[in-house]
Amino acid sequence: MAEEAVLGYLEKNEEILDSGKFAEEKGISHDEIVNVIKSLNGFRLLDAQDIKKERWVLTQEGESYAKDGSPEVQLFLAVPPEGITREDLQKLKPSIYKIGTQQAIKNKWIEMGKLQVSRKVDHVDDKVRDFLIQIQNGEAIGSDDIDALKRRKLISSQMWKGYSVKKGPKYTPKRKKVATDLTRENLLRGDWKEIEFKEYNFLAKGQPTEGGCLHPLLKVRRQIQMIFLQMGFEEMPTNNFVESSFWNFDALFQPQQHPARDSHDTFFLKEPSTTRTLPEDYVERVKQVHESGGYGSRGYGYEWKREEANKNLLRTHTTAVSSRMLYALAQGTFAPKSYYSIDRVFRNEAVDRTHLAEFHQIEGLICDRGLTLGHLIGVLHDFFSRLGMSKLKFKPAYNPYTEPSMEIFSYHEGLQKWVEIGNSGMFRPEMLLPMGLPEDVQVIAWGLSLERPTMILYGIDNIRDLFGHKVDLSLIKRNPLCRLGI
Ligand code: PHE
Repeated sequence: MAEEAVLGYLEKNEEILDSGKFAEEKGISHDEIVNVIKSLNGFRLLDAQDIKKERWVLTQEGESYAKDGSPEVQLFLAVPPEGITREDLQKLKPSIYKIGTQQAIKNKWIEMGKLQVSRKVDHVDDKVRDFLIQIQNGEAIGSDDIDALKRRKLISSQMWKGYSVKKGPKYTPKRKKVATDLTRENLLRGDWKEIEFKEYNFLAKGQPTEGGCLHPLLKVRRQIQMIFLQMGFEEMPTNNFVESSFWNFDALFQPQQHPARDSHDTFFLKEPSTTRTLPEDYVERVKQVHESGGYGSRGYGYEWKREEANKNLLRTHTTAVSSRMLYALAQGTFAPKSYYSIDRVFRNEAVDRTHLAEFHQIEGLICDRGLTLGHLIGVLHDFFSRLGMSKLKFKPAYNPYTEPSMEIFSYHEGLQKWVEIGNSGMFRPEMLLPMGLPEDVQVIAWGLSLERPTMILYGIDNIRDLFGHKVDLSLIKRNPLCRLGI
């Protein structure tokens, strides 16, 4: 309707001078007219010029006086010819008492005695209200009066935007509706012969395809998995998040008073709170080695408690799985093995930009006769250079289950500094011999988080942007492929 009104008017008239007035005359909302003008201008059917006008509109206070009268008049009318006490007048007009008396005194309409208020004139006109109503109706008033109302904050200025419109180069009095589809009705009626069809836009972008997408952690995990497989490693089964303290700590020669075994660091299970079965003869050997040593060790010299070992927890590292695997390996005839795993672990940590209470660990181990620290360093170079980190440094470290132990650092070209990327070592005889592994068998092993390389590769500096409930799903949808060393 609005479109026909605008195009039709221009057929007989040179110009629409003011879209606002035009809208009023036609009884169509200005917004609707403006939308039509914009669209027709875009298709060059019209030539539209902006017009901006400063307009006065009533403030909330102004609106209320336009309705109920100015406060000075309201107040004047509340004063009876015989006068009234200040107190009674205030009770009568509490909300406008102050402003009303102020203005009425200024206008010399009333007189305020110590107690009494009385009229000084018989009759007053509400000019303020009249001006406000005129402004409401869009009528012009004198600039002095405008200033007075502005000072009293009864009106404020507003920018009004509209258009003046002339015919454009492609003007037609009626826009032809082009068909977008050939319908059954078109065929039946035969009007398809006359219909003008909209042209195809072969450059239009299609609808985005909806589908699942892989999280960056999964992409990096897949790549690291490929590297392990290429290096001849077998995957360890890491499908149990719940582990007993025995396999997570005791089997790894981690003493029962170790701070990591505190509930501040580890999530213990309430239900079921303890494990049901452990290999009894092996448990006995672990107890012995903790309490009094053996295999060339002095042990820790404390009283080892079975109840501590029985406690169920959410595994704090995937090395718990490595200890199970090595124990299983020791039960048959020994054959060398290379194992890896990439899965989730849990720690009772305060959450910040680099720590969450759960993360993923990458773990690799090689179990063979005659392995040395040199082998470990060599394997780490091989593994990490396949990840694109070929500059490595090692720093002596401590783990209850490895000796010697080394922290792994890599030179980060982007950050231009050395960053810690993992931990490694050779498993202690105190751990391997009670399992029943032959004396000349060594195990070299290392572990790192999956999050650290993923954050570096994807340029994410807050772990909460990568994992957990605050992750932006569109980031997951858009993130690029991951290709590492393959
Ligand atoms: N379990 C160690 C950790 O949680 C990683 C590690 C694995 C260290 C194997 C040495 C050997 O940090």
